[in-house]
Amino acid sequence: MTSIPDISLNDGTSIPQLGFGVFQIPPAETKAAVLTALELGYRHIDTAEMYGNEKEVGQAIRESGVPRDDIYVTTKLNNGFHEPDKAREAYQLSLDDLDIGYLDLFLIHWPLPTLYGGDYPTTWNALAQFKSEGLVKSVGVSNFQVDHLERLAAETDLVPVVNQIEVHPYFANAAVRDYGTEHSIATEAWSPIAQGAVLDDQVITEIAGRVGRTTAQVVLRWHIQLGHIVFPKSVSEKRIAENADIFDFELDAESMAAISGLDRGEDGRRGPNPSVFDWIPG
Ligand SMILES: NC(=O)c1ccc[n+]([C@@H]2O[C@H](COP(=O)([O-])OP(=O)(O)OC[C@H]3O[C@@H](n4cnc5c(N)ncnc54)[C@H](OP(=O)(O)O)[C@@H]3O)[C@@H](O)[C@H]2O)c1
Repeated sequence: MTSIPDISLNDGTSIPQLGFGVFQIPPAETKAAVLTALELGYRHIDTAEMYGNEKEVGQAIRESGVPRDDIYVTTKLNNGFHEPDKAREAYQLSLDDLDIGYLDLFLIHWPLPTLYGGDYPTTWNALAQFKSEGLVKSVGVSNFQVDHLERLAAETDLVPVVNQIEVHPYFANAAVRDYGTEHSIATEAWSPIAQGAVLDDQVITEIAGRVGRTTAQVVLRWHIQLGHIVFPKSVSEKRIAENADIFDFELDAESMAAISGLDRGEDGRRGPNPSVFDWIPG
């Protein structure tokens, strides 16, 4: 694999632009998948407490033979733990389950504006405290809309390093991405290939044929050229390798514009709308 570029974050750290996501990988399959990704050269793993597979991610990292410091690891706060004391408890639980010494990045998984009195700034201040205590290298958010980010800017002192949001050709999420660009918040694009939904698209298929790549590679390359951080999920060794083999070709401006032109606005969302999402694990 050609080397994976780093993206500089607003706190002076940096993150590999391509990583490996483990959402919906059953715990029994997670260790093998993460070991495969690490063997193939991935050095960035994106997990979450709510994915239920942190222990297996940690086992793979410890058994991989790759030095801990060479791997960037993100996890996220469980929706049921937004009060500051609970957030600290959840953070410690994630650290214990992963058992890899330290975390690179901890995110508020969802803002949950309809829960906890809408007080996500207090949850954010708790994460900021973890960072100032040296418990985690960087802190960020996920699924924050523009109004949520504006509230953090108005009511707290720390700017998130990233906002991890749904972005793919059918859902550009442009206003949130633009806010990030204007305020030095890097965009992490979740479901970068729309969980497979964009892979049969005619426009993308035509471009893939022209550049001699798969449709997944074309879509991931589109993200890379837009500056997004991506971590496609796969349990197939072939597809894990394919998804990382995207650094030796370039899409021309016309192809980039054609893919961007597939945006369906709100209709293109595959996941929940963060403004109303209020799920807490039972
Ligand atoms: N913050 C959040 O709220 C949030 C929400 C969703 C996701 N995420 C993060 O983003 C990561 C990626 O998103 P995602 O898992 O939802 O979706 P995704 O990466 O867009 O797509 C994964 C799906 O595409 C298939 N696939 C992967 N590579 C392929 C290829 N080259 N060709 C054909 N099919 C391929 C996978 O099947 P196989 O496994 O069979 O290959 C899987 O069904 C997650 O793992 C997680 O880390 C975060």
